[in-house]
Amino acid sequence: MPAHSLSYEQAAVFEAIEKTRDHIFVTGRAGTGKSTLLSHLAWHTDKQVVICAPTGVAALNVGGQTIHSLFKLPIGVIADHELEQTQELRKLLNTIDTLVIDEISMVNADLLDAIDRSLRQARRRKDEAFGGVQVVLFGDPYQLAPVPGDADERAYFTDRYRSMWFFDAQVWRDAELRIYELTEIHRQHEDAFKEMLNAVRHGRVTAEIAGVLNEMGARPAPAEGAITLATRNDTVNRINAAALGRLPGRSLTAAAEVSGDFGGRTYPAEEKLDLKVGAQVMFLRNDVDQRWVNGSVGSVTKIDTNVYVEVDGDEYEVEPVTWEKYRYSYSPTTKELRRDVVGEFTQFPLRLAWAVTIHKSQGKTYDRAVVDLGSRVFSPGQTYVALSRITDLSGLYLTRPLRPADIIVDLNVRRFMSEATRIRVPRPASAPDPAGEPAAETATATS
Ligand SMILES: Nc1ncnc2c1ncn2[C@@H]1O[C@H](COP(=O)(O)OP(=O)(O)OP(=O)(O)O)[C@@H](O)[C@H]1O
Ligand SMILES: [Mg+2]
Repeated sequence: MPAHSLSYEQAAVFEAIEKTRDHIFVTGRAGTGKSTLLSHLAWHTDKQVVICAPTGVAALNVGGQTIHSLFKLPIGVIADHELEQTQELRKLLNTIDTLVIDEISMVNADLLDAIDRSLRQARRRKDEAFGGVQVVLFGDPYQLAPVPGDADERAYFTDRYRSMWFFDAQVWRDAELRIYELTEIHRQHEDAFKEMLNAVRHGRVTAEIAGVLNEMGARPAPAEGAITLATRNDTVNRINAAALGRLPGRSLTAAAEVSGDFGGRTYPAEEKLDLKVGAQVMFLRNDVDQRWVNGSVGSVTKIDTNVYVEVDGDEYEVEPVTWEKYRYSYSPTTKELRRDVVGEFTQFPLRLAWAVTIHKSQGKTYDRAVVDLGSRVFSPGQTYVALSRITDLSGLYLTRPLRPADIIVDLNVRRFMSEATRIRVPRPASAPDPAGEPAAETATATS
């Protein structure tokens, strides 16, 4: 649960979701409180809301179900294949008022069209987009892109769609998407750093900005307490294993307890967690007592039945926690939508944290980090995600200087975001003026 109250703009978007049946896209720069608003919505809505997300980890983060399991969709391009629906699935889809999709930027156009078709079919409202369900989409297309897929899939998208992105789905011919952009950044507080991040986001990094980032980044990284954000998995595993190996003593392994149907292997934490005293670890959950948050980095001081972790000079006893995997179902007796726990995963909410992939760092907040862009950055938004995790410019360390080629902006995103009309939330006189409102999008030449 967020520890703070919603800002006026978060509150206005919440109202719009609650009071209208409009299809809404909630977007905004990194750290503007999209996830915070989603979690508020989940707890406070009066509607029958179903929450889903494209990946298992993203679904767990928001207490939802994956899109594929919710809609019982096949993997890969769905195109116009017939959608099989059991009676139970039809009933479930008939109870929904509002479908919330988090991390929408990773949902491709084909999948969104399949969701549309599935809802029309189940609700027998063939002529209404999403079968009359309100859809509320959360995400930032400047951060994570849909996964490109194999050559055949890419060819399909080239033939059928303007791009792979959700905003180019066919359903938008029949429906209007109303866009709300949160403007106030809560993660960072320095205006200069916010502006630099904005330049990285839009691919408008000047030599001057690069100079400031590189100079700050070139300082030697602190020996401990800074996580490395790397582009590649093998770099992350290498850094973590090597660092654990360098510590004296034997490592102890905590095995997770898994029960019920946790499906596949999308566990929220390691199944076997190797730890030693001295290991640098990251918390994977917010603490109910607010001693740490998801993303806090600390070091292991003692291991017995529990693990003791020091964070910023304070030592905490950390106990295992349980992640619950949910599935929505329809109850014929109450005629209501139910969200049941179908699986549980219990483990210490910790992972080795000398390094993590940039992809896995999405959504997180760190006070300081070493950004390792390796030999090259290979997906749009990667550098923006990495840098925007850090709360202060003074927490930025780079393993090598930024190069122009590290800043990749997807041209489809630029096109959509520059053409999109945002709904303006009037700022009450009492609300502070958010420093650095999003610069008007300009359709400049290629990145
Ligand atoms: N209204 C608010 N007041 C104070 N702090 C807030 C508010 N909303 C969010 N925050 C804080 O700002 C940080 C970023 O919020 P959040 O993770 O929700 O942003 P986001 O838009 O989802 O970012 P990202 O795009 O990186 O996932 C968090 O630490 C959160 O607790
Ligand atoms: Mg988020």
